[in-house]
Amino acid sequence: MSRRAQAFPEAPSTSRARVAASILDADLGNLARAVTRAEREGVDRIHLDVMDGHFVPNLTFGAKTIKALRRRTRLPFDAHLMISNPGTFIEEYLDAGCDSITIHVEIDEDIEPTLRAIRAAGRAAGLCVKPGTPLAELAPYQRLLDIVMVMTVEPGFGGQAFMADVARAKLLEARTYLSHKLHGGEIHVDGGVNRESAELVGSLGVDILVVGSALWLKGRDMAREIRLIRALADEGYQYGLNGGVPPIPRDKMVTFASLPRPLARTLREEVEAAGIPVLLFRSPQDAADMDDEVRRWDLLLPASAEAAAKERFGRRRDTLARSTQQPA
Ligand code: DX5
Ligand code: ZN
Repeated sequence: MSRRAQAFPEAPSTSRARVAASILDADLGNLARAVTRAEREGVDRIHLDVMDGHFVPNLTFGAKTIKALRRRTRLPFDAHLMISNPGTFIEEYLDAGCDSITIHVEIDEDIEPTLRAIRAAGRAAGLCVKPGTPLAELAPYQRLLDIVMVMTVEPGFGGQAFMADVARAKLLEARTYLSHKLHGGEIHVDGGVNRESAELVGSLGVDILVVGSALWLKGRDMAREIRLIRALADEGYQYGLNGGVPPIPRDKMVTFASLPRPLARTLREEVEAAGIPVLLFRSPQDAADMDDEVRRWDLLLPASAEAAAKERFGRRRDTLARSTQQPA
């Protein structure tokens, strides 16, 4: 076994925390190499910091660069637009292949149409708050949000010191702005996240840790750093928020119901309409050669959404199951 594998045996799929690599501090002269390396070293996503020299006092890259990078990796792209007029350019960023687009709530431009455009394109829409901006400013847009991004440095530059007081004041509370999402809502923390701050942000329930400079330090073992940061965030979650119980791995699926096909399809439709993804598989409880229309089908859904599904659809499921029982 390699030294790396021994140090952190947790595979990414068993963890709750996810790491998005910000490529701001990578070699900007060779971004294609940066994203392929980040993928090889095991990050979960690429975080793309777009700056316009106006909303923030720095300038990076735009939609064309993102589009060119899109071909170089299979990892999801989270775009973080630190620009004054994202609405003007939103089609370009959608066309570039961003999986999520997060804009800033502090801009003067109309925010709602941009969030709607992102969602209409089937991507995740996010709003980001600078350290000094109260979360309450998100309130008017709450129902349009898939992502809340909390900045723990002033936007503009990588490598700044993590603001722990901002994290404590906002991260846990940020979840309330995603209460309309039964599944898939994400809190991102951006700025100064590294091995020192990972446990704290994990204990505050963060889903996605944006990590920039800590990954690109010369001589650093990036793969080990990613696993360390994930493990520390999960540790924080387990002991800070989850009563000592290990977090549910983000990729884990559970069987929610076993029903004959037509009823299984009905229930799937209802659960998916509430925003929880459902998979249907032939139930191993019945014989392998049983007719598909007679046998039971298992409804699988993400373990992290199980409690919400039970609360909303538990009785419905039981009613459907009872309807299949033959009277004695
Ligand atoms: C700052 C950017 C961040 C930053 C993260 O404006 O939004 O994504 O590059 O880098 P570190 O981890 O170095 O703070
Ligand atoms: Zn960022």
